[in-house]
Amino acid sequence: MTKVLVIYAHPETKTYSTTDKFYQQFITAYRTAHPEDEIVEHNVSEYMPFPLDKIAVAIYNKALVNQPLNPDEERFKASRQAWIDEFVSADKYVFANPMYNLFVPTEMKSYLDMVMQIPDTFHYTKEGTMAGALAGKKAIHLQTSGGDYHGTAGGPDMSQLDLGHQYLQAVLHVMGITDFTGVYAEGMDHDPANAPDIMAKAFARAEDAGRNF
Ligand SMILES: Cc1cc2nc3c(=O)[nH]c(=O)nc-3n(C[C@H](O)[C@H](O)[C@H](O)COP(=O)(O)O)c2cc1C
Repeated sequence: MTKVLVIYAHPETKTYSTTDKFYQQFITAYRTAHPEDEIVEHNVSEYMPFPLDKIAVAIYNKALVNQPLNPDEERFKASRQAWIDEFVSADKYVFANPMYNLFVPTEMKSYLDMVMQIPDTFHYTKEGTMAGALAGKKAIHLQTSGGDYHGTAGGPDMSQLDLGHQYLQAVLHVMGITDFTGVYAEGMDHDPANAPDIMAKAFARAEDAGRNF
């Protein structure tokens, strides 16, 4: 059975959220097209138990010099491993978020920090290059933003400012995932008069992407 892992990052989903509506278009179309698939959803803005904190960095540094972990570090590492195993076991990844200050929300970055893990998702070869462990899997990035970065609302190409999408592409590439695309709902805050039209077109793109992912 194909397993789809959704990494969703939005701190408030109860009130109206463009990101939530955009994502729902995608996932409803996906479910209809792939009724047998397993879909696991995490809103990491609500729950992200393993940030790159003091314990996580101690575990990293001790591994470099082969030092034993203390009981707290052992416990942290064992519980974190379940999240990493879940990530590795997925076949497809959906990253969904609003753009915050040209990047993905902090908690999504924390999630990526957690799964960028040697040897689970990548390793260094003898030559010192990075080799990914997740080759053949695919990922999609659903992002809403007030401004139009990819020209989907008719503006010029400003995609070099979309640092979150570029970062996701780079880390997934390190993990071996090269089948990666972005779908955007963008420009509605900067052009409120056209917002309904922008959103209708973005919803149609999300639905199409969901059917074909
Ligand atoms: C803290 C914060 C930072 C933001 N930074 C950007 C930004 O850098 N570029 C942009 O185009 N929109 C930015 N926005 C606007 C949101 O990306 C946009 O309104 C998005 O549609 C919000 O989705 P929501 O309705 O699901 O909350 C920002 C919004 C917030 C709250």
